[in-house]
Amino acid sequence: MNSLYESTIQSLPLLGRGKVRDNYAVGDDKILIVTTDRLSAFDVVMNEPIPGKGMVLNQMSDFWFEKLGHIVPNHLTGVAPESVVAPDEVEQVRGRAVVAKRLKPIMVEAVVRGYIIGSGWKDYQESGAICGIQLPAGLRQADKLPQPLFTPAAKADIGEHDENISFAEMENRIGAELAAKMRDISIQLYTAAAEYAATRGIIIADTKFEFGLDDNGVLHLMDEVLTADSSRFWPADSYAPGISPPSFDKQFVRDYLETLTWGKTAPAPALPQDVIDKTQAKYFEAIERLTGEKLKA
Ligand SMILES: Nc1ncnc2c1ncn2[C@@H]1O[C@H](COP(=O)(O)OP(=O)(O)OP(=O)(O)O)[C@@H](O)[C@H]1O
Ligand SMILES: [Mg+2]
Repeated sequence: MNSLYESTIQSLPLLGRGKVRDNYAVGDDKILIVTTDRLSAFDVVMNEPIPGKGMVLNQMSDFWFEKLGHIVPNHLTGVAPESVVAPDEVEQVRGRAVVAKRLKPIMVEAVVRGYIIGSGWKDYQESGAICGIQLPAGLRQADKLPQPLFTPAAKADIGEHDENISFAEMENRIGAELAAKMRDISIQLYTAAAEYAATRGIIIADTKFEFGLDDNGVLHLMDEVLTADSSRFWPADSYAPGISPPSFDKQFVRDYLETLTWGKTAPAPALPQDVIDKTQAKYFEAIERLTGEKLKA
């Protein structure tokens, strides 16, 4: 399995490195997004790659972009990543990159929750609500919500945690019309994806979408979509409310990190080889279960 911790494409200008993706300019209207094998947990990037993880994420996103393309336009251009880099750089992009429209990112992340877990469960226990949305009493951890909830978060600056905001605050920041459009599309995307995933024995507990605007102000789905990094995936056959269900995402690493006395700020602690191996296995299992096909590596 070809592993890539950090890309080094010299033939294109580097725009920036996120926690997981390296972005390069392709002309002035497109970007090459290379999904590396970096893993971030609690917003801190681990020092070890999870070999092949970037390929899994890239192919998961591609899968969903195609499946959900009828709901909203997305950032894909169809340009082959291999065609925009130098011949000796092709290995760095194969199976793990896209050439996307360069959009103006909307600085609000669109979180949709179908089940009550994670920060939503914490919030509910303290306030009976998630992000200010009042819920019926008596819900258990991991229970299915009466309907999917849209709980926006402000996209944080580098090194900061994203911050939950109310829908009213989202309207203040980006305007009521765009906020409503993002909410409605996000719920539609989640609902369609959750229906499909159910046929593959997977529960999508929650997920996060990112959107951007093109030069004409048209809303596009961008970034990664319904991956094991941006979503919680639970195998339906071992799902039970009342506990935090086993998952196909980085919960496994988070659980390991919770056993350490670590302040959840950089530098990250070293990951033991068996945690790396098991995490890798979970990402591979996720794509196989979801798409019914092995990773195309
Ligand atoms: N089509 C696009 N046009 C412009 N920006 C995009 C597009 N698709 C994704 N991005 C941005 O590229 C970056 C992807 O990198 P990555 O997912 O590693 O970042 P992150 O760690 O989530 O966030 P940050 O950039 O704040 O570190 C994100 O900032 C995302 O918003
Ligand atoms: Mg990201």
